[in-house]
Amino acid sequence: MLVLAIETSCDETSVAVLRAPEAVAAPEVLSNIVLSQDEVHAPYGGVVPELASRQHIKTIAAIVGEALTRAGVGLEKIDLYTVTQGPGLIGSLLVGLSFAKGLAYYHKKPLVGADHLEAHLEACFLENTGIEYPVLGLLVSGGHTALYLMEEPLSYKLLGKTRDDAAGEALDKIAKFLGLGYPGGPVIEKLGRGGDPKAFPFAVPRTKDRSLDFSFSGLKTAALKHIREHGIAKDDARLPDFLASFEEVIARTLVDNLRRAADAVQPRSLVLCGGVARNTRLRARFQDFAREAGLPAYIPSPKLCTDNAAMVGALALKKFARRPDPATDLDLDAYAR
Ligand code: KG4
Ligand code: ZN
Repeated sequence: MLVLAIETSCDETSVAVLRAPEAVAAPEVLSNIVLSQDEVHAPYGGVVPELASRQHIKTIAAIVGEALTRAGVGLEKIDLYTVTQGPGLIGSLLVGLSFAKGLAYYHKKPLVGADHLEAHLEACFLENTGIEYPVLGLLVSGGHTALYLMEEPLSYKLLGKTRDDAAGEALDKIAKFLGLGYPGGPVIEKLGRGGDPKAFPFAVPRTKDRSLDFSFSGLKTAALKHIREHGIAKDDARLPDFLASFEEVIARTLVDNLRRAADAVQPRSLVLCGGVARNTRLRARFQDFAREAGLPAYIPSPKLCTDNAAMVGALALKKFARRPDPATDLDLDAYAR
């Protein structure tokens, strides 16, 4: 069985072709094309929704074509279509959704809707078979920061989420404030390399009720205060120390909550996913904790951490295997949150 997956929830136009697994094997990713719009949004220091949807419209047909070519299959061979329904930017989502509906309707094939956050959590399963449930998942992206308990396949119980900024958003905003470019996470990682993560004293924030929720707006304010007080600027010699310290406290905050969640739910494995999971420092802190807890830990390879359609295909294949429905669902709708 071949699935064609489309992801346009934010500022990446992505299309993947996957082949369904034999027995317990992971699906085979035949192609996974990701066209980033970073250059379009960089001058604004963040995603401009109207520009994002226009860009998806311009590129979606070519990206579908490229994904099929790289996979070496024609549209007539596709058995199943899938597309991200949400959460995300509504205009962007509608481009992918309409395109997928058109393809599925024309070719009289089933169409499965996918949740973007569930898809991020499924990315790990593309590269690893035998991840044992219950799985505790930490999802860290530009739009979301959340902890999930997956007790069995396709079950996602939200344990805690950010009450304000997402971790990636905090990185992006500080980078924007310092004029370092967009997206902020990768720039901060690059410029902070070699910096002393203890140079600036950031405290790990804790929510008053000790819930598993996150809050990053306080850290952002603390960072802005340091920038003002120490006069830190783009070409400052202290910039690497500052960025390394900020990155370190974000990683520690994330892993702190993960530790408390693991104590509470006693998982058998740990998963880290989402765009910020590309970050070397966070990956290291996550692995340190996993070793300390004696739990197997999984992180997707970098390309599968940031938005991509292969993870959407992985989710759809699981959903379709559980409840095969040959109908093309033209009522499928997009949702922003
Ligand atoms: O998952 P994703 O591609 O899109 C959303 O669903 O939000 O995540 C994008 C986020 C951005 O905030 C970006 O700055 C961050 O992931 N990011 C990183 C790195 N690469 C991307 N953050 C830290 N270090 C990185 N290497
Ligand atoms: Zn995402």
